[in-house]
Amino acid sequence: MLGTFSYKNATKLYFGEDALKYLNDELPKYGKNVVLIYGGGSIKKNGIYDAVLDILKANGKNVAEDAGVMPNPTADKLREGVRIARDHRADLLLAVGGGSCCDYAKAVSVSVHCNDDPWDKYFARFEEPDCAIVPVGCVLTMVGTGSEMNGGAVITNHDLHLKIGHVFGEDVMPKFSILNPRFTMSLPKRQMVAGIYDIFNHICEQYFSGEDDNVSDDLAEALMKSVVRNSLVAVENPQDYVARSNIMWTATWALNTLISRGKTTDWMVHMLGQAAGAYTDATHGMTLAAVSLPYYRHILPYGLQKFKRFAIEVWGVDAAGKTDEAIAGEGLAAMEDWMRRIGVAMKLSELGATKDMIDGIADATIVLKGGYKVLDRKEIVDILKESL
Ligand code: NZQ
Ligand code: ZN
Repeated sequence: MLGTFSYKNATKLYFGEDALKYLNDELPKYGKNVVLIYGGGSIKKNGIYDAVLDILKANGKNVAEDAGVMPNPTADKLREGVRIARDHRADLLLAVGGGSCCDYAKAVSVSVHCNDDPWDKYFARFEEPDCAIVPVGCVLTMVGTGSEMNGGAVITNHDLHLKIGHVFGEDVMPKFSILNPRFTMSLPKRQMVAGIYDIFNHICEQYFSGEDDNVSDDLAEALMKSVVRNSLVAVENPQDYVARSNIMWTATWALNTLISRGKTTDWMVHMLGQAAGAYTDATHGMTLAAVSLPYYRHILPYGLQKFKRFAIEVWGVDAAGKTDEAIAGEGLAAMEDWMRRIGVAMKLSELGATKDMIDGIADATIVLKGGYKVLDRKEIVDILKESL
């Protein structure tokens, strides 16, 4: 059964090899002053920076640059971004990069016309925006987070050892996002597979919750199968356009709120992974991979029927003559095999985590209640130790 819900997605998408030309259709809708937000320079090496700047100039825009958005953008960088956008009287924030740039642009967008400190207001007190919001557009170059079509913004505070996500409403979602699968082909393989695991886990987080028969879980299974199939092709040949385009589109659907409609969701792998990320600054998708199997093996007995369904529907486990426990266990074994094949991190120690961080990571883990088992502190510590 599906619960009661509303659904609207405020982001207009342009997808495909020619998608960047549609920036010409979008730019006239906004004022003259554009802040071009990007990361550590990959867009200068692969030519995307020049292509975007040419279009901005052709449309007569007055451009200020906000460069150096780091993976896992920080509260300090966010404060700097707010200053840049204010000084430039920004009419549009154009993020060109991955989830970090897109998340960061959203966090800046709700803070430019607001007097409070952005970390305190949105990531400590979880307040909603009550000031004018500067529109955000996105040209995506890294696939995984779904940030291009959702309201999420994740910011890291290194002083406090916290990595916190705020899911804003539709006013904060990008007004438009441009998705050209070819733009992702210069990604190092490690980033590509981290993004692939992020996609897969977003689907898991929404799937491993509740037992009802609902179409959201059917969609989730189809998306998971597509990620697995295309990831194996992309790992073999990162230049395979069919695989890369399927992965890019799946990432968007995995976290644009569609497959969570009408059902409960879990998100504990993300809570554990983000807490580990606050201590290690490791790549987001890798932190998820490292904690996933210990977590899922721990909650399996509490969600046995769903793990059995996952094994049969997603991994094609033959159920004949086996107990439910054996079937469910084979499903997670198949998932582990796939994770090793694509080459994600299997342990937090590979990402710089050490034994003496466990207590701090456990303290930084936000406990959510939508999964099959609400974790207590001892369970969190045990899962983290297992993940190390
Ligand atoms: O900074 P540059 O030089 O551009 O390099 C980036 C960065 O080092 C590089 N890169 C991106 N596109 C490239 C490229 N390198 C070569 N060629 C390209 N085409 O990739 C590195 C990682 O980029 P980043 O944006 O950090 O990756 P991702 O998209 O995985 O974003 C991660 C952030 O998103 C948050 C994560 O927590 C993390 O802070 N998330 C946001 C979510 C949301 N909005 O809903 C949900 C997710 O669960 C996630 O938490
Ligand atoms: Zn994620």
